[in-house]
Amino acid sequence: SWNMGSFLEEAIADIKRQVGDRHVLCALSGGVDSSVAAVLVHRAVGDKLTCVFVDHGLLRKNEAAQVVHTFRNLFNIKLIHVDASERFLGKLKGVTDPEEKRKIIGAEFIRVFEEEARKLGDIDFLVQGTLYPDVVESGTGTAAVIKSHHNVGGLPEDMKFELVEPLRWLFKDEVRRLGEQLGLPEEIVWRQPFPGPGLAVRILGEVTRHKLDILRDADFIVTDEIKKAGLDKEIWQYFAVLPDMRTVGVMGDGRTYAYAVVVRAVYSHDGMTADWARIPYEVLEKISVRLVNQVQEVNRVVYDITSKPPGTIEWE
Ligand code: XMP
Repeated sequence: SWNMGSFLEEAIADIKRQVGDRHVLCALSGGVDSSVAAVLVHRAVGDKLTCVFVDHGLLRKNEAAQVVHTFRNLFNIKLIHVDASERFLGKLKGVTDPEEKRKIIGAEFIRVFEEEARKLGDIDFLVQGTLYPDVVESGTGTAAVIKSHHNVGGLPEDMKFELVEPLRWLFKDEVRRLGEQLGLPEEIVWRQPFPGPGLAVRILGEVTRHKLDILRDADFIVTDEIKKAGLDKEIWQYFAVLPDMRTVGVMGDGRTYAYAVVVRAVYSHDGMTADWARIPYEVLEKISVRLVNQVQEVNRVVYDITSKPPGTIEWE
């Protein structure tokens, strides 16, 4: 049986051989795969690696700062942080259809990444966090797509890079072990799955900065209480959804008219099927009280008790 130690040494030697002293680019999303791939490639080629983190402004609370801190400060990796939130919000203005949102975000992501790659010039390789199951699934494996944002198509014809895919022989649990061995923080190694289009598909209807602020605060509370209750390892995904819906409430001697927040939490092995999580009432109670007391403009909390199928994990 192979062990991670020898895998690591061989992988580093392979990357060195492939890349030589040419330049490598990596699109970082903050997800497990791209993070582990980036740190591994950095071990092999050091400053020949540049990471581009396209921040679409649809991430969770503190997430962008954590990515920047981890790669720049902890690992000393060259990282370009592109704050493109204005651009993405501009493109999403007035858009309510879920698939339309996904298409717009995917296309804009490619456009921003491509602009950064052009500015850098002199790039020969692109790092992809492709895993073994992806290779098997796609047959040939190496299509130059930004995998962390699936369904988004590829880069233009004139931007052909050779791919570096150091994780292509690994399964997810092996990638996590490798990540731990490389010293990546637990929050990244054990991160719950998060969709490429981010909070845009958890805000039903039009995405606005204001709704993003509300959802980020709400999601932080849900996450925090699930972690405090020690349920974060057994629950596959846990998050808040902001429906396009306000309801009447009462506070003091006045009526309120504010957003309802949905709490979603599921058990799953692969995301293909899922069962709603039997969170203890006391935990749900804490979440509910905090959401209503601490998040401005929220006056009601509901818990989604739909499994998949017939529901999906996300609401869009
Ligand atoms: P659903 O909602 O279809 O989600 O039950 C299954 C899994 O896929 C994730 N998901 C996405 N991931 N881009 C992604 O990268 C997307 O557009 C997307 N939509 C859903 C979801 O979080 C769950 O883990």
